[in-house]
Amino acid sequence: MNKNTAYSFLLSAVFVIFSVSAYNVAKVDYNDPQLLIDLIDVNQANAETATSATTPKKGKSVEKLVKQCKTCHTFKENKKNKTGPNLFAIYMKKIAENDTFKYSKSFKNANIVWNDENLDSFLKKPNKFIPKTKMAFNGMKKPEERQKVIDYLKNLK
Ligand code: HEC
Repeated sequence: MNKNTAYSFLLSAVFVIFSVSAYNVAKVDYNDPQLLIDLIDVNQANAETATSATTPKKGKSVEKLVKQCKTCHTFKENKKNKTGPNLFAIYMKKIAENDTFKYSKSFKNANIVWNDENLDSFLKKPNKFIPKTKMAFNGMKKPEERQKVIDYLKNLK
């Protein structure tokens, strides 16, 4: 092996070592497009977590929730009863007070006031709270949806 061959051998060895280490660095290279995509994903996930922590989930609008009641109820003052009684100013009224409506026996015998708690239990499962009620409505499972409807009823005055 002459001097020149030895020199070029050494050079190529250095080159190989250099390339291997360069390759290893490239594995975490910030120019890697996939890495950039991953970083964006992580950022978006963080941003979503941050917003959902500060802004409450919207859910169904009160209009949509109350729409299902409107099949049987009117809400404005002096409007006619439908299958169910008019519900204007129902909040804090005694149950079955509307003498233009023919309530069920169980409604007439119940002695309650439509406060938050009773409205909540009633709207959750009408025929469980007032057994044999004429109100043929399954109820609303979600507490936040019931709360929206109760707030709506409170404002009818
Ligand atoms: C399928 C028809 C129907 C639907 C839908 C319905 N109701 Fe009723 N509701 C009735 C009837 C009938 C009564 C009277 C019950 C009785 O006499 O047993 C009643 C009674 C009530 C009362 C008590 C009224 C009073 O004078 O004491 C409230 C409050 C009420 N409903 C709220 C609602 C709300 C809020 C919704 C919508 C989430 C709703 N109802 C959906 C038929 C319905």
